[in-house]
Amino acid sequence: MNDRQKPAPTVFVIFGIGGDLAWRKLVPALYNLEVDGWMPEQFAVLGLGRSGMSDGDLRQRLREGIDENSRRGEVDGDRWEELQQNFFYLEADAAEASTFEDLSERLAAIDADWEVAANRVFYLAIPPRFFEDVIERLGQAGLHEPRDRVRVVIEKPFGHDLDSAQRLNRTLNGIFAEEQIFRIDHYLGKETVQNIMAFRFGNTLFEPLWNRRYIDHVQITVAESVGVEHRGDYYDHSGALRDMIQNHLLQVLCLIAMEPPISLEGREVRNRKVDVLRAIRPIPSDHVDGHAIRGQYGSGWIEGERAEAYRDESDVAAESLTETFAALKLNIDNWRWQGVPFYLRTGKRLQAKVSEAVIQFKEVPHQTFPQAALMGSQPNRLLLSIQPHEGIFLRFEVKHPGLAMQLSPVLMQFYYEDAFAGSSPEAYETLLLDVMQGDTMLFMRADQTEAAWRVLAPVLEAWEESKPFSFPNYPSGSWGPEEASQLIARDGRAWIMPTHLACKEDITACRFRTGDEI
Ligand code: BG6
Repeated sequence: MNDRQKPAPTVFVIFGIGGDLAWRKLVPALYNLEVDGWMPEQFAVLGLGRSGMSDGDLRQRLREGIDENSRRGEVDGDRWEELQQNFFYLEADAAEASTFEDLSERLAAIDADWEVAANRVFYLAIPPRFFEDVIERLGQAGLHEPRDRVRVVIEKPFGHDLDSAQRLNRTLNGIFAEEQIFRIDHYLGKETVQNIMAFRFGNTLFEPLWNRRYIDHVQITVAESVGVEHRGDYYDHSGALRDMIQNHLLQVLCLIAMEPPISLEGREVRNRKVDVLRAIRPIPSDHVDGHAIRGQYGSGWIEGERAEAYRDESDVAAESLTETFAALKLNIDNWRWQGVPFYLRTGKRLQAKVSEAVIQFKEVPHQTFPQAALMGSQPNRLLLSIQPHEGIFLRFEVKHPGLAMQLSPVLMQFYYEDAFAGSSPEAYETLLLDVMQGDTMLFMRADQTEAAWRVLAPVLEAWEESKPFSFPNYPSGSWGPEEASQLIARDGRAWIMPTHLACKEDITACRFRTGDEI
């Protein structure tokens, strides 16, 4: 991550090349890395699938994928001509041992052709039920070695619960060394998520305030306006807790709550994050409702468009009890965060797509000003906006102009797009480059995945046992179920409306409101 040099010659073996992930994310990311000059001189993609494509069919399909999904828009014809020669289709059944023999021969042939021992990245862009078989077969075929030039990338979901994650880790760690394993959480590759570390540890200003003495509470929101799209089958067996909180939201929480690492070395950063997960106070099994809320969307309206109920989506059970919204209150038992709650919420079919973390500071300890001066005054607030308007916003008090002493909150705003020209790399570009360079910092270690499941275990168990009879309990286009407002209101707080969305257009509209019922 620090040492950005072009990677050594690399062969990407993508299991599931015909799937959505390769089409939408992986290949557009490889293309952009090539355009930015990061791809090694010698590289190839061997795409494995079962649909009997020719190399030409594959290349055509991937080109369309780049056209539609690359941050640069349509592919540059000349570049593509050159690049496409590196993509090959391998018809293969991952359940057959012969597939791995063929693969082994193919990889050996590439090494011989290039006259180099190339790095090999096995990318499992396949449904999780196939993970263990493929890992074992790679091991049986001896493809897990040599350790210094073979890597395996695992997509989420990493297990379905603690037991299955432990099982998967045992399989993986029984064959690959931990430093060969790259468990992806694409949120960690997002520029603004990485920026949390830059902001906290690259400035002297904030770290002294970053604790229970000054911070009242933290809110992390990842709201989506989309529904389950075409992933009903997967999602209906997963739900918001597994799909988003176990990974993305807990990782953002770790970055906000972790102690300063002494370096950006993968082991060091991951140790500091695991410390946070281990310090999260277990949610009491007999009082899960006081800490966790679930919801499922009904029909409604989003941006003037009719949205259907979750239960009417394709591949979703008509009486589904899967949650499409989850909110949690967590406490971290350590010196820094004792008494500072972290509120997390995420959901589909909410009013807007917005991901942000709010650091709410405490009231001033003593009011110097008379009551009349304080009408409308608000404690400080720092907002880290992850998407869609990437930036940082700080609210503080100033004297309202006029003859009377009157305090008024104002906002200091930093937008990435204003400060830096050009588009930022997408999460998968960062992550794929890290994989090629063998940098594990932005990936989940075995103990991290298990610690995250451990945090959620009491909630998963309680929700499994007691059925939510009130589903659906929030309309599409709202900010989630009423119970989520009550969860935080019981502590005398409220979810903060992501009003910064309006700031970009009209600064006067940009006031952080409190007490919003969302
Ligand atoms: C994925 C989830 O990990 O993240 C999806 O499986 C979700 O359900 C997506 O839509 C959100 O990612 P982003 O980058 O659009 O915020």
